[in-house]
Amino acid sequence: MPLRMLILEDRPEDAELMLYELRKAGFQPEAHRVDTEADFQAQLAANPDIILADYSLPQYGARQALQYLQERGLDIPFIVVTGALNDEEAAACIKEGATDYLRKDRMARLGYAVSSALERREMRKRVLASEKMGSIGRFAAGASHELNNPLACVIGFSEVALASLADKRLSRVKLKTALEIIIHHAQRCKSIVASLLAYGRAFSLEPAPVHAHEALEEALALAERQASLANIHVIKTFAGDLPVIQVNREALSRVFVNVILNACQAMDGTGILTLTTRKQDPWVEIVFQDTGKGISAENLPKLFDPFFSTREVGAGTGMGLSICAGIIHAFQGEIKAESRGAGQGATFTVRLPI
Ligand SMILES: Nc1ncnc2c1ncn2[C@@H]1O[C@H](COP(=O)(O)OP(=O)(O)OP(=O)(O)O)[C@@H](O)[C@H]1O
Ligand SMILES: [Mg+2]
Repeated sequence: MPLRMLILEDRPEDAELMLYELRKAGFQPEAHRVDTEADFQAQLAANPDIILADYSLPQYGARQALQYLQERGLDIPFIVVTGALNDEEAAACIKEGATDYLRKDRMARLGYAVSSALERREMRKRVLASEKMGSIGRFAAGASHELNNPLACVIGFSEVALASLADKRLSRVKLKTALEIIIHHAQRCKSIVASLLAYGRAFSLEPAPVHAHEALEEALALAERQASLANIHVIKTFAGDLPVIQVNREALSRVFVNVILNACQAMDGTGILTLTTRKQDPWVEIVFQDTGKGISAENLPKLFDPFFSTREVGAGTGMGLSICAGIIHAFQGEIKAESRGAGQGATFTVRLPI
């Protein structure tokens, strides 16, 4: 089995021993050995299948390397190989994301350790893929459920209208009412389809340097056009030294408008909306805190699902936050919601990489 490896190790003979053990176990390893931070980071670009790392090199050790992978969100099996490691050090490595650890005098176990690390990674990939399928399934189920109700009304009242044409005794008033109901529900379908299109539409995600404060001001102005902010006190605590971020300004404003409108709706038009920005290396953080009705612990994990809405039927499509999350993730950012519960207000935090 071919195996692309990155070995973080200062002793060539130790690296040779690893390769020898792996060949014995049936692998065809193709390895790059590095012993400095710069070389390690450069070699990651080659996308290795696995990393073997000495615990303590003079310049750069396994723990720093692990930390770097975590920061980058890279999921590459990582085995710590070391001369002597006490239990605490071993536990610390595993806690920091190492897949396994191995002592240099027990190298015969290396082949097994590598196979099982690769297997576990394959499992993680499959779980991720099935979660994605799950969200597409939920999306389709939500969309058909949303469309089914108004369509059933359209069909039902069309039949009433037809019957009233056939039966002269049924009044024209009844026909008029049926047609009005049909129009109302057909329009509802149209708005659902429009929001589906918005969801599926490829936004321009062309990034450019953007100042979060400008996007926030623009979003406030846009939100004001759609909802009354007259009785909402907006407090801005903006950082003075906020770095620019690489995002698409229109898409980002759209996210902010959605979050601000949600907050206004949760406060029922009256309350305090606090907008905070700060630099939180390596992120720029934008926080929206409201004094609205809050979110129950039960609903919190569902907020970003397409079609999840607690609004009355017909009022919201529940696509707002789902679209927001799609945009923020496209820029390698994060969005999260917090609330201490019903009646306690809510806080939405958007983080984007500097
Ligand atoms: N600031 C907030 N405070 C309390 N609940 C919130 C807040 N923001 C969102 N929610 C909850 O999350 C749900 C989903 O929000 P989302 O924006 O995705 O959909 P929506 O606002 O219901 O409909 P749409 O935005 O499509 O018109 C809302 O129905 C509401 O229950
Ligand atoms: Mg919304």
